Amino acid sequence: MTAAMPPLLAADHICVRLGGQEVLHDVSMRIARAEIVTILGPNGSGKSTLLRALLGIVPVSHGQVTRSAGLRIGYVPQKLQIDRSLPLTARRFLSLPIRHGRAETDAVLARVGVPEVTERPMAGLSGGQLQRVLLARALLTQPDILVLDEPTQGLDQPGEAAFYRLIDEVRRDTGAAVLMVSHDLHVVMSASDRVICLNGHICCEGTPRVVSGAPEYRALFGLGTQGALALYQHVHDHDHTHDHDHGHDHHHGTHGHDDGHTKDGHKTDMGQTGMVQTGEHKTGGHHHHA
Ligand SMILES: Nc1ncnc2c1ncn2[C@@H]1O[C@H](COP(=O)(O)OP(=O)(O)OP(=O)(O)O)[C@@H](O)[C@H]1O
Ligand SMILES: [Mg+2]
Repeated sequence: MTAAMPPLLAADHICVRLGGQEVLHDVSMRIARAEIVTILGPNGSGKSTLLRALLGIVPVSHGQVTRSAGLRIGYVPQKLQIDRSLPLTARRFLSLPIRHGRAETDAVLARVGVPEVTERPMAGLSGGQLQRVLLARALLTQPDILVLDEPTQGLDQPGEAAFYRLIDEVRRDTGAAVLMVSHDLHVVMSASDRVICLNGHICCEGTPRVVSGAPEYRALFGLGTQGALALYQHVHDHDHTHDHDHGHDHHHGTHGHDDGHTKDGHKTDMGQTGMVQTGEHKTGGHHHHA
């Protein structure tokens, strides 16, 4: 699907064993620059483990993980232990463990839409503000790829939608790829270029529309009717204007969304238009996970 671009991150036939159990079996995937890829799957299906394997935090028992040379990763783990009793301001938090100047921390907090929290204690932030500060911290690494494990946990629906818009903006402005885990099927459908359904192995993958119609996906999430998810197929700012749907099940006039079908020999570019040249400001590897 992304054959034209060298991947930032790739897994080839990886297996991961934890506590004597194989929690990931024969998983292969890759992610290219400026792609937004979402991993979906039930609790315990290995989503966090897959991210950690890709980052090199957990070892693989079989197969291989490849990260492009000098890759800068901004990682927000699913659970971040912040001692809520520490009188730590957002500004100070952003300077841990690596110091960033005032201008830089101000700018990044404005970027994620919470300039007002700069001097507030971390313990006093709302869930949505906290998620944004965590994203800000990841952005300070000037990442080639953001790896976000359930970044919208605890957000209400408007907060969640706003968060995904922000992710999309970051991708557009910096060319960073985004690999995230989510349970939010509906929002994810509109926010991702590509979706991977995981349940210890990859059940199915593809563009959101393809995946939402896949029997494996429907089985995994126990979905009954075909129509519901199609409603969430939003229009992205892709530049292909009038690809027509060929016999898809939805019926409400969503238009022209390239779903990766190849009937006309054209594969989706997954929204990468015009973003490839940005995000090349590599200035050293001190932030990135080895
Ligand atoms: N350190 C560990 N030792 C043993 N088993 C583990 C360890 N970490 C994770 N597991 C097991 O591996 C499986 C996958 O866990 P993982 O955290 O990757 O799931 P997940 O898809 O992220 O779930 P959730 O949606 O709840 O976050 C689970 O069965 C979990 O119990
Ligand atoms: Mg998890």
